[in-house]
Amino acid sequence: MSNKNKFNNIRMKNMIKYVAMAVSILVFTGGNAQTKEKKVGLSKSKIAINSYVGKEISNSHDAEINKLISQMTLEEKIGMLHGTTMFSNGGVPRLGIPELKMADGPLGVREEISRDNWAPAGWTNDFATYYPAGGALAATWNSEMGYTFGNSLGQEMRARDKDMLLSPAINIVRTPVGGRTYEYMSEDPFLNKKIAVPLIVGLQDNDVMACVKHFAANNQETNRDFVDVQIDERALREIYLPAFEASIKEAKAYSIMGAYNKFRNEYLCENDYMLNKILREEWGFKGIVVSDWAAVHSTAKSLKSGLDIEMGTRGKFNEFFLADKLIAAVKSGEVSETEINLHVKRILQTLYQVKAMGGQKRPKGSIATEAHYQDAYKIASEAIVLLKNENNALPLKLDGIKSIAVIGNNATKVNALRGFGAGVKTKREVTPLDGLKNRLPASIKINYAEGYLERYDVKNKGNLGDITINGPVTIDQLEPAKLQEALEAAKNSDVAIVFAGSNRDYETEASDRRDLHLPFGQEELIKKVLEVNPRTIVVFIAGAPFEIEEATKNTNAVVWSWFNGSEGGNALADVLLGKINPSGKLPWTMPKKLIDSPAHATNSFPGDKVVEYKEGILVGYRWFDTKNVAPLYPFGYGLSYTTFDFENAKSDKNAYTVNDKITVSVTVKNTGKVDGKEVVQLYASKPDSKIERAAQELKGFQKVKVAAGKSETITIQVPVKELAYYDVATKSWIVEPGKYTLKLGNSSRDIKKEIDVVIK
Ligand code: BGC
Repeated sequence: MSNKNKFNNIRMKNMIKYVAMAVSILVFTGGNAQTKEKKVGLSKSKIAINSYVGKEISNSHDAEINKLISQMTLEEKIGMLHGTTMFSNGGVPRLGIPELKMADGPLGVREEISRDNWAPAGWTNDFATYYPAGGALAATWNSEMGYTFGNSLGQEMRARDKDMLLSPAINIVRTPVGGRTYEYMSEDPFLNKKIAVPLIVGLQDNDVMACVKHFAANNQETNRDFVDVQIDERALREIYLPAFEASIKEAKAYSIMGAYNKFRNEYLCENDYMLNKILREEWGFKGIVVSDWAAVHSTAKSLKSGLDIEMGTRGKFNEFFLADKLIAAVKSGEVSETEINLHVKRILQTLYQVKAMGGQKRPKGSIATEAHYQDAYKIASEAIVLLKNENNALPLKLDGIKSIAVIGNNATKVNALRGFGAGVKTKREVTPLDGLKNRLPASIKINYAEGYLERYDVKNKGNLGDITINGPVTIDQLEPAKLQEALEAAKNSDVAIVFAGSNRDYETEASDRRDLHLPFGQEELIKKVLEVNPRTIVVFIAGAPFEIEEATKNTNAVVWSWFNGSEGGNALADVLLGKINPSGKLPWTMPKKLIDSPAHATNSFPGDKVVEYKEGILVGYRWFDTKNVAPLYPFGYGLSYTTFDFENAKSDKNAYTVNDKITVSVTVKNTGKVDGKEVVQLYASKPDSKIERAAQELKGFQKVKVAAGKSETITIQVPVKELAYYDVATKSWIVEPGKYTLKLGNSSRDIKKEIDVVIK
C-alpha cells in the first residue's frame, strides 16, 4: 500500500471511529435522541463531531514490568530518570528497554540534534513537514484541524522513530508581548482545550506520546528561570488549568512537561501542589512528568513532588539532579528504592503503551509526504484571518491587472528553522512571494521590492537569542534606496501588497517583545506605499498581536497570516485570489495599544522576582468586555468574502439541571455570492451573578461550511457544568442557579442572537 493510501486508511478508520463516538454520545446523552430532535426541529441539523477521547494508559503489562524492575540495578533504574542524551533518557539494552526518544515540537518534528550538545546532528534524512504554529492552528477554530495536525505529525514522529513529542504547548496567552505567543494557542481556556484535545488524540493514535507543556502558569519568557508566579486559585482553575485538565482527563496525554518558573514559591518541577495534588490526585494522571530542559533544582524534593524524568543541558548527564546525586540519595536512605521503582514503572508503562516495548507492532509512519503537505495546507488555509476588506478590495480581481508590486522582507522570509528554540528542517517552505508566483497567471508581472530591512541593534542589547531578558531592539529607519525601490514598484504596478509583521527571530522563545510596535520601519513603509498606490493591501505574517491601527487606517484590506507552515504561501495566495474564502478567527484580542491589555493595564507584567497576575480571571477578552475597553479587533473576529445571517436560534429546553446538556441550534444562512465557512461562537453570560464574573465567556463553537444562498443548521452542546465557576472556599466547581444568557455571534463583539435559559 502506498504511503498516501495507508495515511488515508488510518484517517478513514479514525473518521469512522469518531462518527461512531459522536453518534453514541448523542444516543447516550439524549436518551431518546430521535424524539428530542423532532421536538426542537433539529432533524436536518448537524451534530458536531467534537468528542475526542484518548486511550487510558493500560496496566496490562504490569507483570512483565515488575519482573523487569526486579532485574534492574539501581544505576540502571536511575539512568531512566534523567537525560543521557539531549533528547532521550537512558535505556537498559540488556533487558530490552529502549531509550525514550523525544523530539520537539511546535512546528513539526525538530531536526535531529547531536546526542550531547545543541548542534544539529547533520542528518540528511530528517527533513519534515513544517506545520502551522499553535496560534494558526487555534485560528482555524476547528477541532478537526487539531486532530489532523496531531495525526499527521504523529506519523512523522514515527517515521523518525520517536516516542514522545514535546508538544502541544498550551499555556494561556496572558500578554500579547509573550515570546511564545506564536507557539501557544489562545487567551481563552475553552478554545485552547478544544484544539489541544483532538491534537493529542490524533498524535497518540499513532503510538506517540504527547508531552503537554509547560505545566503550568508559564506565561512569560522574561525571568522564566526563576520568576515566582502568584495567581489566585480561582484564576488558576478557570483560566490557566482547564486545557491541561482536559488534556489529561479527556485526551489522556501520556506525559506532561514541568515548567521553568516557580508557582507560589516552588519551582514547577518540584511543586507538590501542582504535580502530586492536582495532576495525579485530582485528575488521575497516570503518565510521566518530564522536566523542561534544565528546569530541575533538587534531587529528593523533585522526585517526591512528582517529577519522573529530568531533561536538559546542565553539564554532564551524570551530574543531573536525578543522576549520581539520586544514587547517593538512595544509598544514604534519603530516597527509598520503592520510590525509584514507582517512577521507573510509570516510564515502562508509557513505553509499553506506545508499543515501544514487548515486540508490539507499531506504525512505521511517513514523513514530508505530499499528503502531509496537504494537511499543512488545509490548516494554513483555514487559519488566515481577513481583518479588513473595504470596497471589496479582496479577493483580487485579476481582470485588467497587469502587474502587482510585492513589497516587504516578509514576502521572502523563511521561518521554519529560525529563532531560538525548536524549528523544523524542511524541503518545502512556500513563502508569500513563491505562493503568488505559483498561483498568478504568467501574464501578470510581479514587481518585488524588499522595502524594509530586518535589522537589529545588537550593540543596544538587541542580540537575538538572549535568554530570558527583554526581546531584541530593532532598527526602525528605512534605507532610502530600499524605500525608493519599493515606491517605484508600487507606482508602476496596478496593485501593491505589503508583507509586514514579524518573524521567528523577533518573536521567539526565551524573550518577550519589548512592546507591540511594528518593527523595521514598516509603519512608515506602508503609509508611503499607500500614498503612491491607493490600491495597497497589507498582509501581516506574525504569530502575535501588534499595534497596527495607525499603519492600516487608510488601507482597504488587511489580512493576517501566521508562521503558517510548508504551504503557507500557497494558502495565502489562494486567499488573496479568492480560491479560498477566509474563515480564520483571531484566537486572541488585538488591542489598540499594549496598555489596554489586562496584564499591562494592571501593571503586573513582567514583575521581577515575583509576578502577581492582578487581573485575576479577566484575561484577554474577559478584561476588554468586562471593563468596556474597545479592542482594535476582538477575540473570535475574522471576515469572509461572503456574509452570514444567524436565524432561528433556540435551545432544546428552557430550564436545565446541573447534569444536563444544553443543545442550542441555529441556522446559518450564507447571504452572499460565494460559498464560505462561518464559526458560530457561543458565549455565556450571567449579569445578575452573585460573584465576580467576566461579562461573557466562550462555552461552545462550531465551524460550518455553507454554500452561497443556502442555509445549514448547526447544534452546539453545552454541558451545564461548563457554566460553573470555581469556588475557592469549598474547593469545588459550582453552577450558580438562575438565568443565563447564551449569546451567539461570529466574534465576541458581534453577537447576533441571544437565548435565555434557566439553571435550576
Ligand atoms: C523549551 C521547551 C523545549 C525544550 C527542548 C526548552 O527551552 O522551553 O519547550 O521542549 O527546550 O528543546
